[in-house]
Amino acid sequence: MSDSILIFGAGGQLGQEILAQAAAQGRDVIGLARPQADICDISAVARHIAETRPRLIVNAAAYTAVDKAESEAETARLVNVFGAANVASAAAAANVPLVHLSTDYVFDGSKRGPYVESDPVASLGVYGRTKAEGEAAVRAAAPRHVILRTAWVYGRFGHNFLKTILRLAGERPELRVVADQTGCPTATQDLAAAIFAIDRAVQDGNAVEWGTYHFAGPDATSWHGFAEAIVAAQARWTGMRPPVTAISNEDYPTPARRPPNSQLDSGRFAAAFGYRAIPWRPRVAETVQALLQPVETCV
Ligand SMILES: NC(=O)c1ccc[n+]([C@@H]2O[C@H](COP(=O)([O-])OP(=O)(O)OC[C@H]3O[C@@H](n4cnc5c(N)ncnc54)[C@H](OP(=O)(O)O)[C@@H]3O)[C@@H](O)[C@H]2O)c1
Repeated sequence: MSDSILIFGAGGQLGQEILAQAAAQGRDVIGLARPQADICDISAVARHIAETRPRLIVNAAAYTAVDKAESEAETARLVNVFGAANVASAAAAANVPLVHLSTDYVFDGSKRGPYVESDPVASLGVYGRTKAEGEAAVRAAAPRHVILRTAWVYGRFGHNFLKTILRLAGERPELRVVADQTGCPTATQDLAAAIFAIDRAVQDGNAVEWGTYHFAGPDATSWHGFAEAIVAAQARWTGMRPPVTAISNEDYPTPARRPPNSQLDSGRFAAAFGYRAIPWRPRVAETVQALLQPVETCV
């Protein structure tokens, strides 16, 4: 067994953040983006695991286009169900524990208050359904797994809501954003740290209780509240602050239905792994600063 963590889906926003933090902290992480390893190719997945002999595998690869999934159900299923099953069975065959990422969109959003791990899944769309089926495949194939359900992910890398709002704030006189969907914005920074906390627990020989955990930002907001905070944070760097108008879900029809409430309770994760995300507002301000602050050059 080598001393590294192996990441599938390393080209995505979470994968890139894990690699950046690992480089900054001197951690040994091997990242495989889709061109290096397609998780739908079981022999490629098994070969990479055999070659790298990791101590922990993270599956951050997924089909994440929530609306497009409605018209590309087979592609979404291939990656989110069969790809997940491939990684899980190859990890189990090599006797390596697996962290598999999943989503708040496995829930239908009808609950009042935050969802806990034992709440029944009932996805409203193809993306959530394929992720729920992927979870089931992981449970069936890999006894030593942590399924980490997260939500509303944003960070420095890749595509996300925060970066879309930053772009629109520079282009439009007014932003209109849905105010009747509630969730917990989660920074890739915190998600990467949560995965390192799992790795630490495994390395320390702690008796890890394998299974499903929620990990998200500790407080909830609406997309509108999230957008307002992003616009306020960027105004410091751009001087532009277009108004953010609250609209309802009905005013913004999308191919996929989304849960009206997908808050996640991360208490079980904190109790097991001793780590909680910091509140999302300061994280949003930090992320916006990292993206917009002019780089000082020395002459
Ligand atoms: N983003 C969110 O708000 C959110 C919320 C809840 C849960 N999650 C979950 O968190 C995890 C990480 O998401 P993320 O935000 O980092 O997503 P992301 O930025 O879309 O990254 C996903 C990565 O997976 C890659 N991929 C797709 N199909 C693949 C395949 N067959 N083999 C290998 N790689 C493949 C994608 O490559 P291409 O770009 O080439 O397709 C992309 O680099 C996912 O499991 C997602 O379901 C995300």
